[in-house]
Amino acid sequence: MNIILMGPPGAGKGTQAELIKVNFPIPHISTGDILREAVSSGTKLGLEAKSFMDEGKLVPDEVIIGMVKERLAEDDCKAGFLLDGFPRTNEQAKALDEVLSGLDAKVEVAINIAVPDEIVIQRIANRISCPSCKAVYNLKFTPPQKEGVCDKCGSELVQRSDDSEATIKNRLTVYHEQTNPLLDYYKAQDVLYEFDGYRNPKEVFADIKKLLESI
Ligand code: AP5
Repeated sequence: MNIILMGPPGAGKGTQAELIKVNFPIPHISTGDILREAVSSGTKLGLEAKSFMDEGKLVPDEVIIGMVKERLAEDDCKAGFLLDGFPRTNEQAKALDEVLSGLDAKVEVAINIAVPDEIVIQRIANRISCPSCKAVYNLKFTPPQKEGVCDKCGSELVQRSDDSEATIKNRLTVYHEQTNPLLDYYKAQDVLYEFDGYRNPKEVFADIKKLLESI
């Protein structure tokens, strides 16, 4: 199944992706994770992306589209994929449709996780994550068992450099201007499914699971 996960920063896309991939064996492709890995290993892509990410701006379409095209061409995507954080602009949505139509495929499910701005600001301010296994925690709602240490792999947990208050506000502005309008794009294709993300992560996932099992 070809799935895209949408929603504002901090809506819980990464959290739901972790739950989805346990139940549905398709690769989880997070453009944010790919970029952060490139930044930490100091590649050309990482050097190019870092300043955009730290300011809460989108990395240019041509960079991201090329990166996603390459990833979707890998063998493990043949039976489907879970795209998290892509597409985020009209250009990216059109490019994705083009790539998929070349593979005789299409976006089958666009999941939107809706959460009010004031809630995502609180969530992001309390987020810590594992740079190794990508597990996500929240100091308020879902803290790790041992302070600063990942429950799953034992690595040291970190706060993302783009999770400062000023950057979060920019990311939300960018989301409302450029990404939220894409919901209409997928509504018009009759593949949009909307979920209230201002609930316990397990409740949100129960509804997403029900949907995916019914398709
Ligand atoms: P990216 O990494 O994609 O970040 P984002 O979309 O801003 O989303 P987040 O990762 O912040 O949040 P999330 O929705 O995954 O929430 P999470 O599960 O972590 O992108 C980062 C940057 O990379 C962008 O700003 C841009 O510069 C660049 N970029 C990436 N893709 C791009 C693209 N396509 N084009 C151009 N540029 C691109 O949860 C957040 C917190 O809330 C956690 O602490 C979690 O534990 C907690 N939480 C989750 N669910 C719940 C719940 N139901 N109740 C309570 N707490 C919860």
